[in-house]
Amino acid sequence: MTDAPGDWDPTAYLRFAGERGRPFADLLAQVGAVDPAVVVDLGCGDGSATATLLRRWPRAAVTGVDSSASMLAAAAEHAVPGRLTFALDDVSDWQPAGPVDVLLSNAVLHWVPGHAGLLRRWAGQLAPGGWLAFQVPGNWRAPTHALLAELCRSPRWAPRLADAAPDPGAVLEPAGYLDVLTGAGLAADVWETTYLHVLTGEDPVLRWVGGTVLRPALARLDGQEAEDFTAQYAGALHRAYPQRDDGTTVLPFRRLFAVGHRAG
Ligand SMILES: C[S@@+](CC[C@H](N)C(=O)[O-])C[C@H]1O[C@@H](n2cnc3c(N)ncnc32)[C@H](O)[C@@H]1O
Repeated sequence: MTDAPGDWDPTAYLRFAGERGRPFADLLAQVGAVDPAVVVDLGCGDGSATATLLRRWPRAAVTGVDSSASMLAAAAEHAVPGRLTFALDDVSDWQPAGPVDVLLSNAVLHWVPGHAGLLRRWAGQLAPGGWLAFQVPGNWRAPTHALLAELCRSPRWAPRLADAAPDPGAVLEPAGYLDVLTGAGLAADVWETTYLHVLTGEDPVLRWVGGTVLRPALARLDGQEAEDFTAQYAGALHRAYPQRDDGTTVLPFRRLFAVGHRAG
């Protein structure tokens, strides 16, 4: 089950590919698998991060799974027969053919309500010695999200957007994930990082969220209304994230990381 409406736009998402790629690398750096045979990337998006796994584990069979047809169309160009394949599926429904050595999910689970139960199931699908690693944004209380929620619940927009507001309950706090992983019998390593993204150009924070958290609200509006809503939100973002003297804009972005390891 996902609450991400409509389809993903690889172009909008990849506008900040450098900044978005870093957490995947930081997550992977804490996965100690040496020579896994079966590696799965759940919510693989356009497959560019998934493809880097081939270099890390040259003998692994890697599968990327995603529910977005347009993301998978972009991923197809990374496919390598017998080494890297992609499958269209909802991560909540996906079932492995057998035990998995490394199960990754980067920047996906915040779209999946009640994902603690899913994590328990994935933990049970690990091979002995297997690894489960995921990263989710932890910025629901940041101005990007709080201002959007406030606007969605304001009198003009509430009738259609109240339930499209970002929900702080979309992710657990780090201690919650630690409990889920240890409760599932894994040794857990959980941490958080706030990246300070230095963005350039006009409305860079708006352009950033346009590929992600703004999508559910805009999907419900069209034409002039979408423009009005975006203009109001852009004004609030300008005040919260002012442009600095050198023309850049700093976007602090908190992310939560969790790695679980099953004993061999
Ligand atoms: C923010 S992107 C992350 C993509 C990739 N993991 C990365 O690190 O670049 C989120 C991806 O999760 C996918 N997604 C969201 N909910 C999903 C679900 N329930 N099942 C499968 N994929 C889902 C979206 O289609 C999108 O490609």
